[in-house]
Amino acid sequence: MDGLLTSEPDVYSASPLAEGDALQGLAQLLAADLAATNATIVARMASEVELIPQLAAHLIAAGGKRLRPLLTLASARLCGYRGERHVRLAACVEFIHTATLLHDDVVDESDLRRGLASANAVFGNKASVLVGDFLFARAFELMVADGSLEVLRILCNASATIAEGEVLQLSTQNDLSTDIPRYFQVIQGKTAALFAAACEVGAVVADRDRSVAASLSGYGTALGMAFQLVDDALDYAADQNELGKTVGDDFREGKLTYPVLIAYAAGDPAERAFWQRTIERGEQSEDDLGTAFELIARHDAIGQTIERAREFARSAQECLADLPDDPVRALMMQAADYAVTRRH
Ligand code: IPE
Ligand code: IPE
Ligand code: MG
Ligand code: MG
Repeated sequence: MDGLLTSEPDVYSASPLAEGDALQGLAQLLAADLAATNATIVARMASEVELIPQLAAHLIAAGGKRLRPLLTLASARLCGYRGERHVRLAACVEFIHTATLLHDDVVDESDLRRGLASANAVFGNKASVLVGDFLFARAFELMVADGSLEVLRILCNASATIAEGEVLQLSTQNDLSTDIPRYFQVIQGKTAALFAAACEVGAVVADRDRSVAASLSGYGTALGMAFQLVDDALDYAADQNELGKTVGDDFREGKLTYPVLIAYAAGDPAERAFWQRTIERGEQSEDDLGTAFELIARHDAIGQTIERAREFARSAQECLADLPDDPVRALMMQAADYAVTRRH
């Protein structure tokens, strides 16, 4: 069945990891585990229904940072695990992530992902939703293959929480009465939950006690919060070519992200009227994205978003304080800095 994947994607060639990134350090330290994870991913996206590997390969070959599987591999190693289960679980975590990306790009009507036309732009919404379901199902097969009910509980819970986060975001869309606690609830669900689960299962396979699993889960949650805050800053501040996604998507979608919440709260009546027209009523013309950038800059909303991300990154690092001081931990500490300083 694996042979049906006629041209196996080179899952490394499009790696967006830059020289010197903390993530590259982790990827190097865990190179053998990561290669095994990528091989599992490629093997498990096979299907006799050709459109499935075609669409999955389009997205998976486009690269992706493999951040979440790296967290699973790193957490397991940090906990002293020496077996093979973490590889399968890292692949499982990346499948959950990839499934949510396929669904997310349909919901967000995004046409660029990982520097390429998104799967929905190339294959259509219907195929993207259905292949997303397939990848989710593959993830569940990998959990069953692992056999631990505790792992199953953690990853099922994270999958439900991601969906809740995305649905909650949908309900806050275009609603300027959304406040910062509600925004945090959204990003905790849609992003931080999987980061937390990715780390926690590393401790579980290593059979470490609850307090270690809780520290790693806390690290993942805080890292995920920082990561999503920066994602939301980059949506108003990034170089699109570097980011590999369309800048301004959140504005066009009327998403209430942290930079907008800050700029709206600090805005004068004319500025508030601008946000009400563009975000609340969705009446946008060509110049409006430029104006949004200006208002966000005027109130240093990107700076404040990054500062908030930095606070989460610090608490992520604090969660690792009681874990063994070794090279994996040092790189996980650096990954928290990377979440704040990244440009893609
Ligand atoms: C994108 O995640 C979705 C968010 C939570 C912002 P990544 O930026 O980790 O996506 P890839 O896997 O590297 O493309
Ligand atoms: C990402 O949310 C969260 C999930 C994929 C579940 P976004 O919509 O902000 O992510 P990007 O910007 O499309 O990667
Ligand atoms: Mg999106
Ligand atoms: Mg985004």
